[in-house]
Amino acid sequence: MHTLHVELGERSYPIYIGRDLLADGALLAPHISGRQVALISNETVAPLYSEAVRAALPPLDLITEIVLPDGEQFKTLQTLELIFDRLLEEGHNRSTTLIALGGGVVGDMVGFAAATYQRGVNFLQIPTTLLSQVDSSVGGKTGVNHTLGKNMIGAFYQPQAVLIDTDTLHTLPERELAAGLAEVIKYGLISDEPFYRWLHEHMPALLAREEASLAEAIERSCVNKAEVVAADEREGGVRAILNFGHTFGHAIETDQGYGNWLHGEAVAAGLSIATRLSSQLGRVPESEVLALEALLLRCGLPVRAPESMSVEQFMELMGRDKKVIDGALRLVLLDAIGQAVVRADTPLADIAKVLAHSQR
Ligand code: NAD
Ligand code: GLY
Repeated sequence: MHTLHVELGERSYPIYIGRDLLADGALLAPHISGRQVALISNETVAPLYSEAVRAALPPLDLITEIVLPDGEQFKTLQTLELIFDRLLEEGHNRSTTLIALGGGVVGDMVGFAAATYQRGVNFLQIPTTLLSQVDSSVGGKTGVNHTLGKNMIGAFYQPQAVLIDTDTLHTLPERELAAGLAEVIKYGLISDEPFYRWLHEHMPALLAREEASLAEAIERSCVNKAEVVAADEREGGVRAILNFGHTFGHAIETDQGYGNWLHGEAVAAGLSIATRLSSQLGRVPESEVLALEALLLRCGLPVRAPESMSVEQFMELMGRDKKVIDGALRLVLLDAIGQAVVRADTPLADIAKVLAHSQR
């Protein structure tokens, strides 16, 4: 097992990465301070892993299992109410600990429930998708979607610990593994060129779910994310680089309806568009755009926006994104592979041009 730390002063926490961690009661116990736990998962993940986590819990007065419907379309305030109803009905108090067992949808919702239930209770993240292991479980962004925009309602709220059991990836559908790889590739692009080159070399092993390579990719992704979060917890500055490709990706997700394109798939198309834009602006050679596209395609990920989306629709949706500040679209671009920058001065004509290319 490897342990990393997200350094945030009194809100610091460990990330444990290893095999068979779900069943490790000694890891969980120190992060459960009260006598109550709510283990929250969804109808796909609960049958696979809830029992193992439940068996690993220390002796408690109250354990409530909550099984949510599965899907991005259920990442809503209505689903949150299901959680609050059960917590209140069963008498969970302010010393309860919520455990999020599942992918990013469960993690984001349980994190937000923890941030707001009785003005804040402890929570643990046990992410079970590659995407949630390398991204959503780390850094404290929590929340739900609104019909007018993704993740529009939420809070920054850090967990007590993140427990990444790499064995859970063996039951993950191939499409979900690929979606997680998009975020892994993102870290290489924005802040870690050696890792990016390593990914090109090790992609066959990752796609074959070779244990050592997966663990390495997860650890290096988490190291990169933890460093950025420690420098800028609430996204006042550098944390925005984690959204590389996401402004385009979110527009795709909103246009297509949550859950039709997976988040990681939309991000993959977004990475490709944002890297091409960086190249168009003379920051990155065209050969890097082609190499990235080849890498994404090898994972079975999209590199273009959906044909049905017009440039106008894109611009309108991106205008609604949280990254619009005072009328300017803040975009993350690459100055080089492994070096992202946030710019608010990209001419809209250039953005339209790269989007038009993506429609071809
Ligand atoms: P997800 O939570 O929908 O999980 C994908 C699918 O895999 C679901 O059907 C799930 O039930 C299933 N699943 C999960 N673990 C499994 C396993 N081990 N075996 C078999 N099936 C399993 O999707 P995701 O990609 O994990 O997360 C996407 C969400 O994360 C989006 O809502 C996105 O906005 C959010 N997100 C948040 C952050 C953040 O910083 N908070 C960052 C990135 C993404
Ligand atoms: N996934 C973007 C962030 O955590 O800031």
